[in-house]
Amino acid sequence: MMRALFFLAVIGAAAAVAVALRSTPAANSITLCNTCPPGFELTDNNLCKLRSLYQLYESGQGNEPGVGGLKTALPNVRDGFTPQQIDLGRYLFFDPVLSNDGTVSCATCHQPDKGFSDGLKTSVGLHNTTLKRAAPSLWNVAFYKKFFWDARATSLEEQMTGPLYSPDEMGTTREQLLKTLNAIESYRDLFQQAFPSRTSGAIALDEIYTAITAFESSLISLNSRYDQYAHGYHEALRKEEIEGLNIFRSFVARCAECHTPPLFTNQQVAVIGLASPEGAAFDAGAQETFHDASLRGAFKVPSLRNIDRTAPYTHAGRFNSLREMIAFYSAGRGHEVPPTEKLHIHWHIWEPKLTDYEMDRLVDFVKTLTDESFMPRAPESLPSGIAIDKNKNQKTLSSLSPNTP
Ligand code: HEC
Ligand code: HEC
Repeated sequence: MMRALFFLAVIGAAAAVAVALRSTPAANSITLCNTCPPGFELTDNNLCKLRSLYQLYESGQGNEPGVGGLKTALPNVRDGFTPQQIDLGRYLFFDPVLSNDGTVSCATCHQPDKGFSDGLKTSVGLHNTTLKRAAPSLWNVAFYKKFFWDARATSLEEQMTGPLYSPDEMGTTREQLLKTLNAIESYRDLFQQAFPSRTSGAIALDEIYTAITAFESSLISLNSRYDQYAHGYHEALRKEEIEGLNIFRSFVARCAECHTPPLFTNQQVAVIGLASPEGAAFDAGAQETFHDASLRGAFKVPSLRNIDRTAPYTHAGRFNSLREMIAFYSAGRGHEVPPTEKLHIHWHIWEPKLTDYEMDRLVDFVKTLTDESFMPRAPESLPSGIAIDKNKNQKTLSSLSPNTP
């Protein structure tokens, strides 16, 4: 007991010194938010914990068990970050100062008003370099176990080292990133607020990764009209939409086998047999991640949450509309596979021969999965001092309605 108290006293003294050594607050000093984003509850230890009705349900139980079950539990969520870490992550996410030349932020390719995608067939990075894949939505990434279309990363922290250090995306290096952020007084102050128990006054890489992960994990979309229906409010869906839900879950269309509620992804990779866009080399996808030839052309099953916001569709932006995407499934197993490729198409992809009416109802249904009620607010000014209008995505950001502090 005495020993514990002694340690506390030492830590307390060290903290006091650290505070004293810290430079005076920057002129444009920012105080990080001390409340959790909507949907999260603040614990006594200053941590934000997700609260969702789905947490009341148990896997495979409830009224309607099975893959298409409405009352199915959620997988484990990455929560437990502090409000200050989430808020710091928000600034970092929108700040192009993280890139090599101060022109590209995470939000350049993951724009809030486009479902945290970018509206392009494939993304465009540093110096207008066109990438080979499309930017996925970031809603509900807090639940995922694998990241990227080919499932090659296993945590959000690992994932972001891709775009940060890829010369085609943000093009920075670990050294440059640390040097840049540590040179900005406002960021030094913000990191101290977000990580008050740190022993060093310098910004560290894992703090950057934690803060951005905290922000990404706050992007929860689980309160669409579909969810209200699933929780028992029958009037939330129109007749046509319920018809669409039933087709979606049917053994004919089989959509729910892969796009499994409540996340509308089973988080697996699957070969559905898409052709490459014209002129592009065939993308081997998860074959390269798992060194498994049977996974040639396999991609992670994307969630269909906020799918109405993220056209064009697929890993290479093949289809401009949901109707075209759904018509692909109906047009016959393997009809797009290039003659030079032998793909092991997933057994749930077959020839459902959906009618036009059924395809329209599927479109109606997937559009009920839109919920942006927990949309974070884009920062009004950035700690780096980079002007908002210099960042090419900020124009669209300023049009968003603020609904978090
Ligand atoms: C130049 C555009 C661009 C930038 C900048 C960018 N991303 Fe992405 N992001 C993409 C693309 C494209 C993919 C898919 C790449 C792939 O699968 O190979 C992706 C994938 C992701 C994923 C995986 C989602 C999933 O469902 O698997 C996450 C998470 C993510 N990005 C977060 C970030 C964060 C955080 C930043 C900033 C540090 C960032 N991105 C910067 C384009 C970008
Ligand atoms: C065998 C698993 C599987 C089945 C069954 C399946 N999908 Fe998919 N779906 C996928 C995969 C994998 C992708 C991503 C493919 C790619 O990008 O190469 C995808 C992509 C999509 C997309 C585009 C998502 C985006 O973010 O670009 C939509 C929309 C979609 N599917 C709807 C449906 C509907 C509706 C059905 C039922 C008719 C269905 N899917 C059946 C696995 C499946």
